[in-house]
Amino acid sequence: MSSKSTYFIANWKMNGSPKDLIQIKNLDFFIKNRFKKHNKLIVYCPPQPLIAYFAKKIRSKNIKFGSQDVSNNNFAFGAFTGEVSSHILKNSGAEYVIIGHSEKRLAGDNYNTIKQKINNANQNKLKIIFCIGESLKENKNKNSLLILKKQILASLEKGLNFKNILFAYEPVWSIGTGIIPSQSYLIKVFSELKKILIRHYSVKSPKLLYGGSVNAQNIQSLKMIPNCNGYLIGGASLTSKNFIDIIQNYYS
Ligand code: PGA
Repeated sequence: MSSKSTYFIANWKMNGSPKDLIQIKNLDFFIKNRFKKHNKLIVYCPPQPLIAYFAKKIRSKNIKFGSQDVSNNNFAFGAFTGEVSSHILKNSGAEYVIIGHSEKRLAGDNYNTIKQKINNANQNKLKIIFCIGESLKENKNKNSLLILKKQILASLEKGLNFKNILFAYEPVWSIGTGIIPSQSYLIKVFSELKKILIRHYSVKSPKLLYGGSVNAQNIQSLKMIPNCNGYLIGGASLTSKNFIDIIQNYYS
């Protein structure tokens, strides 16, 4: 593990209510008391209406907030019903944004929309959690690396501030299925991602995350993957108990 922070990013998807502040408070209490010395960063990405409320209530140097999406319109404000700009997100307390999640790709985000979202977030200095990942079919056809490369090259322009981009490798077949890739497979993918990012963007030490069915059991093997700087966690981040178990097992 490098001296960089380890990221534990909670993707709450379409879950949560103001009452769930208690989950974040529990986690805050736990890390302040038990894991002070570890270099870690927790980012909660709840549904957008909860960001401002949570961000106001939780002031912690280890806990930040992010959005699960951003508008692809390049305006701070305007007549775009239902859209939320990166400017508005920033003002509501978000420092991060997830872009390119496979569930959003499935709902219609294409390479171009994703590129626009990334550019908007980059312009407003939001930190970007850029998700990439192949489908089961692409994996079975041994096309994973090709797809990942395509997803990267089609949506990332060269002038971006790469210090503000986290790359989350989330194989679609692993999300919510309880199945995770083998260690050797992940080692290969992460090393190839590094090669792509250095060759095409001169990014020497990208921050790479893994996402897909991360839980308190499999974190023991996932933490052995070299070049992995953290995790994007869905289901197991919803309760503080499960989320704390993951962090605890990671450091044990
Ligand atoms: P999961 O979701 O941990 O529930 O598999 C991860 C994600 O979709 O980011």
